Amino acid sequence: MESVELLQDLRRRVAAWRLAGQRLALVPTMGNLHRGHISLIEEARRRADRVVASIFVNPLQFGPSEDLGAYPRTLEEDRRRLDEAGCDLLFTPGVQVMYPHGQESHTRVEVPGLSAILCGATRPGHFVGVTTVVSKLFNMVQPDVALFGEKDFQQLVVIRRMVADLNMPIEIVGVPIARESDGLAMSSRNGYLTAEERALAPGLHRALLAVESRLAAGADIAEVEAATTGMIREAGLGPDYVSIRSAIDLEPATEQDEDLVVLAAAYLGRARLIDNLRIRRI
Ligand code: PAJ
Repeated sequence: MESVELLQDLRRRVAAWRLAGQRLALVPTMGNLHRGHISLIEEARRRADRVVASIFVNPLQFGPSEDLGAYPRTLEEDRRRLDEAGCDLLFTPGVQVMYPHGQESHTRVEVPGLSAILCGATRPGHFVGVTTVVSKLFNMVQPDVALFGEKDFQQLVVIRRMVADLNMPIEIVGVPIARESDGLAMSSRNGYLTAEERALAPGLHRALLAVESRLAAGADIAEVEAATTGMIREAGLGPDYVSIRSAIDLEPATEQDEDLVVLAAAYLGRARLIDNLRIRRI
């Protein structure tokens, strides 16, 4: 696997592939790769001739009191895993490459509305940072297809909306959540958990698993959200939000919606965990 840090080297490599008529996939990441990230690379392999991955811990999407400094950086191990998974090119731009004039005055790409709800309500500015850096990566790599995990379900919906609104000619593919054997969604932030907290963490997923049967039993949306919040608290986590939404546009769920998603975020020690579960009603 080739590895480049500079934009001109990335462009040169990608231009050659494009000239040869090859289909390109992009998998953007912040590194500290686990099986969830690798499943995106494997899906990319199935959908394109060449796979480009990026690793960039994007300061623009971290709030002032968030974990930018502590975010795990494991470049050598990441490189090995990407190579093994069949990634063709790794792009690891420095902050100077991404934001040569600094972050403050940098052009923003924003999806209003969708970026302000759920995780966006707790993390103001987060999704503007995500859509800005993902737009830049799209322009740098010019992929035919880009892959994102359903783990960050709101991020996936926000990016789909950005691509539609700005007429970006890129297919966006969502990849199912990779979980540990006890149900915990894999995340780079799980590494912040102590052994004791790690044992409590699957309580978040367990609470979400109870939603479908509660809805099927006829409970209304607000009741189910409240009961799920209670379950998360009883499991020893600090709930941030639990919300049942349309999986298409994240509007609050109505009785008519068939494709739903329950999304939740909760605090556990130093970590803020997120998870979600699709629910289809017929
Ligand atoms: P990061 O958290 O590194 O995640 C990179 C990609 O891996 C995202 O699309 C994310 O949804 C996916 N992913 C993470 N954990 C997963 C899991 N357990 N199962 C399946 N997919 C999983 O998300 C970001 O980085 C950044 O916001 C980024 C899009 C790179 C922009 O900076």
